[in-house]
Amino acid sequence: MLELRAIDVAYGHAQVLHGVSLSLARGEMAFVVGRNGAGKTTLLKTIAGFLAPSRGTIELDGVPVQGVRAEVLARKGVRFVNQDKRVFADLSVRDNMELAAHACGEPLERAVERLVGLYPKFSGFLDKKAGNLSGGQREILLIGRALVGEPRLLLIDEPTEGLAAIVIEDVFRILNSMKHSISSIIVEQNLSVVARLADRVFTMKEGRIDREIDDPARIADSAALEACL
Ligand SMILES: Nc1ncnc2c1ncn2[C@@H]1O[C@H](COP(=O)(O)OP(=O)(O)O)[C@@H](O)[C@H]1O
Ligand SMILES: [Mg+2]
Repeated sequence: MLELRAIDVAYGHAQVLHGVSLSLARGEMAFVVGRNGAGKTTLLKTIAGFLAPSRGTIELDGVPVQGVRAEVLARKGVRFVNQDKRVFADLSVRDNMELAAHACGEPLERAVERLVGLYPKFSGFLDKKAGNLSGGQREILLIGRALVGEPRLLLIDEPTEGLAAIVIEDVFRILNSMKHSISSIIVEQNLSVVARLADRVFTMKEGRIDREIDDPARIADSAALEACL
């Protein structure tokens, strides 16, 4: 459903991605792993349309989309969850969902129902200010927002970064519940999460895809994944 061919991306004169090619099949959950500065966030932002490649092509369901702006891609069902876990802090959880639901033309009740389905504890938090949520709850709210309107491609940058172990398991369960129902590319440093969820793993080094691993036995071995970094 997604095909990148030989993508180059630069910030000004500093080229950060070099000839990146990857493909994702419908319903697959792929992970991108690699050290800090490898270019993982740049890759997701390029697929989401926040950065335009200087070379190469990106096809979404067979349609070229390189250079298409993020707002347009969002309307086509490409959603990006930023690494920073920023929500509208002064608004309630429900109002955070309302903004996304309104933008997508989805009834608020359906958006809220989906969020509560992901994480039942939210049923008691809907009127709470989003700024008072824990880091894990904010991440779950952001994933819930990204799922509004049933997108076709979900891109999530470091969903478990900075979270306590117990909350990492909450995020893990939510991602696990989404497996097969959506196509996704997730950047993640926690290799135990990657090993338990990934259909496919791309390792990045210095702006290039270094390896692609799709053998389930190799993916399930987080020590072997670590050795690839
Ligand atoms: N806005 C920017 N302007 C210039 N260089 C950037 C910018 N964002 C990231 N970079 C550089 O691009 C490289 C890849 O960054 P990034 O994609 O954030 O890596 P990762 O997400 O793997 O840690 C790094 O060398 C980083 O310093
Ligand atoms: Mg990053």
